[in-house]
Amino acid sequence: TPGRIVVVGSLNADLTIYCERLPLPGETVHGNGFAVNPGGKSANQAVAASLLGGSVSLVGAVGADANGDMLLSSAARAGVDISGVRTSATEATGVAVIAVDSNGENNIIISAGANGTLSPSDVAAAAETFDGAAVVCLCLEVGRDTVEAAARAGHDAGATVLLNLSPYAEIPQQLADLTDVLLVNAHEASLFLGSAGNPGSAAIPGSDADASDWEAVRLRFAERGLQRVLVTLGAHGSVVLDSLAPAGQQLIQIAPVRVNAVDTTGAGDAFTGAVAARLAAGAPLADAAAFASVAAALATTRKGTQAAYPDENDVRRVLTSGAV
Ligand code: RIB
Ligand code: NA
Repeated sequence: TPGRIVVVGSLNADLTIYCERLPLPGETVHGNGFAVNPGGKSANQAVAASLLGGSVSLVGAVGADANGDMLLSSAARAGVDISGVRTSATEATGVAVIAVDSNGENNIIISAGANGTLSPSDVAAAAETFDGAAVVCLCLEVGRDTVEAAARAGHDAGATVLLNLSPYAEIPQQLADLTDVLLVNAHEASLFLGSAGNPGSAAIPGSDADASDWEAVRLRFAERGLQRVLVTLGAHGSVVLDSLAPAGQQLIQIAPVRVNAVDTTGAGDAFTGAVAARLAAGAPLADAAAFASVAAALATTRKGTQAAYPDENDVRRVLTSGAV
């Protein structure tokens, strides 16, 4: 049986307006649709992992309001254990204001609300949940001290600590050292490698990159203590950089899954949740990434995040047939 997954972090109500193109600063544009959906990177990751066969517990905080109820029921419906989600007496549920254009591209502003109250003491209160966990899945939508406490709890429990460096922020070396698998998009990768203490070019190879470009990136991550890194490249697929693999298998490029994207919101979370589910099931990192890239691609073909996520059968069908 697959090991358990603990996801620690954010839950947000996503207030999304669909529009032809995203507004420029100072500009007002007309939308052509509005929806309120369950979101938040950690809730999304938990739901994705659970729908893909994972046994998932979510640790987080919501407010005592309708948005909180929506988030709890969405996660529970997907089979996520929500007993570790606390209801804040003082703060409202976190909110994300999202604009999605006709290409499925988005921009997002988040307001932390109850997510901002999540603290190391919530991690301590969930100690039993960490016991025997296979994977601990983290992102940066809650405070860094909380993320670090959860990474430490996961590390001490012998779990694989999976960190999605999103939304990008600098992380202390201690957190990098507690991270077993780092998951970044190209933008986050370049910010991370270009950040303080690591001068030099931060360029991440483009779609025309060859293996030696990626080898250089792998070595630079390894210098920062990150031995296993997944870089997602949107429509260009993804790359597995695994410095712990035998020589010759340390770089694996995963071809993109071609889909007609209508809403890319939460595709990265689908990828992260899928990796967590496959690692908890004992899959090798490269297999987990190949599976995750199908899950993420399918997630972009429907509006919303959690509501758009595929289940295990959907992904297997694409993996076997090679077609969406
Ligand atoms: O990654 C997508 C998520 O980012 C959205 O669901 C939104 O809530 C923000 O957290
Ligand atoms: Na979507």
